Amino acid sequence: MTHSANHALVFGGSGLIGWSVVDQLLSGYPEKNSFAKVTAITNRPVNPSETQWPEPPGGRPELHLVSGIDLRSHTQNSLSQVLKDSIQDIENVTHVFYFVFTSMADDTEEVEVNRKMIEVAIDALNVLSPNLQFVVFPGGTRGYGIYIPGGTFRPPLTENMVDNLPQDYARTCVYPVFRQVLSNASSGKKWTWCEVCPDTIVGFTPNGSQFSLALHWAQYLSLYAYNHGIGPHTGGLEQPDHKIKTQVVVPFPGVEAAWKAKNTPVAAKTIARFSIYASLHPKECGSGNGRGQQLFNIADRERPSTCEELWPKLAAWFGLVGVGLPSPADQMAPRELPGEYIEKYQDVFKQYGLDKAATSGVSAGRKQLDSVGTWLTFDRHLSLDKLRASGFAEEPDPTDAWTEAFQKFREGGMIL
Ligand SMILES: NC(=O)c1ccc[n+]([C@@H]2O[C@H](COP(=O)([O-])OP(=O)(O)OC[C@H]3O[C@@H](n4cnc5c(N)ncnc54)[C@H](OP(=O)(O)O)[C@@H]3O)[C@@H](O)[C@H]2O)c1
Repeated sequence: MTHSANHALVFGGSGLIGWSVVDQLLSGYPEKNSFAKVTAITNRPVNPSETQWPEPPGGRPELHLVSGIDLRSHTQNSLSQVLKDSIQDIENVTHVFYFVFTSMADDTEEVEVNRKMIEVAIDALNVLSPNLQFVVFPGGTRGYGIYIPGGTFRPPLTENMVDNLPQDYARTCVYPVFRQVLSNASSGKKWTWCEVCPDTIVGFTPNGSQFSLALHWAQYLSLYAYNHGIGPHTGGLEQPDHKIKTQVVVPFPGVEAAWKAKNTPVAAKTIARFSIYASLHPKECGSGNGRGQQLFNIADRERPSTCEELWPKLAAWFGLVGVGLPSPADQMAPRELPGEYIEKYQDVFKQYGLDKAATSGVSAGRKQLDSVGTWLTFDRHLSLDKLRASGFAEEPDPTDAWTEAFQKFREGGMIL
């Protein structure tokens, strides 16, 4: 088998999708020799021993981790200099996985800041990396109008719907701007690009994440289990004032309609694998050549999931019994949402030396993630027809992503 010279550059290498792209490349996906080198770029510092990335088979691809590159603080010129100084073989970068996103309170500012970051990065690479072949970036179901109460389109959501997004709403969302930036920057160049569009992304990050529902619910369920005398830390130390119960019920943190709403979650691993697959299949997956913009919905399974199906399985991993709404008697009692619960009890993490759990949870998104059970009360499942037509056929069980992430959170000291 021939060894390729491909060099992957992953922006946002410690984020929800970026971490997984690096993980899959180092695991030898799609083949051990598909890439010679992976450079993972992060903004916040990352301790290599905490990444949980595997040793690549036979030492290929090589990994280079470059931390401390804050894209917000750069112009194209200053970023070019930094990339040139810090990335070995920048001139041989062939595939770029751009998984950076900064959430901000003000939508207009958020669009502008994220536009500038991708623009300086791609403009710098247009100068520094003449062998560039492909760029992948993420969109999301926000781009189908799910932030409008009740949703915007009737599911299954298909890629062509993004063209009919109400104008006022479209202006609050950065994905159309990303498409424009990539179309302009690739014009007349030999590289092309695609966008991947997930709903809820389920995966591990070593450093916390802005909108990781898996981490949010994992911290909630682990503290809830602990407070009810269940879990790996409940044997050793003195317990809180609770009796150990054999059947501890944890109601879904939300309302009936959200419990029943159809959705299509996706493992970060599945997004990573498709992103790599797409980057290696530019004819089928790239934009241009009459194909227009290439946007691909992505999910683990064509058949939609519901929280009704998922919640009991997630709770069971923590030794709990996950149910829908609280019993009629308990419905009258005020309920603490996961974010409030985590805040109230996070000292328990510190008590067990899990400082990282207390400091590296979800950041910007805690409130938004709490509203998943109250606001996402409508069906929003994605059509996977275009994904399947691209030749990508993987269909993992959606529950696996959650339990694999929970295991990694535990190994990484982010939950009890
Ligand atoms: N989370 C979901 O369930 C979900 C669902 C649908 C779509 N999406 C989309 O997927 C994308 C990523 O999602 P996320 O926000 O949940 O991921 P995330 O895990 O918070 O990752 C964001 C990444 O961006 C990097 N980043 C942020 N500011 C940066 C800066 N100034 N300079 C350089 N890098 C910077 C972060 O690096 P550091 O950590 O090093 O700062 C991190 O690696 C977004 O476009 C989001 O809209 C997410």
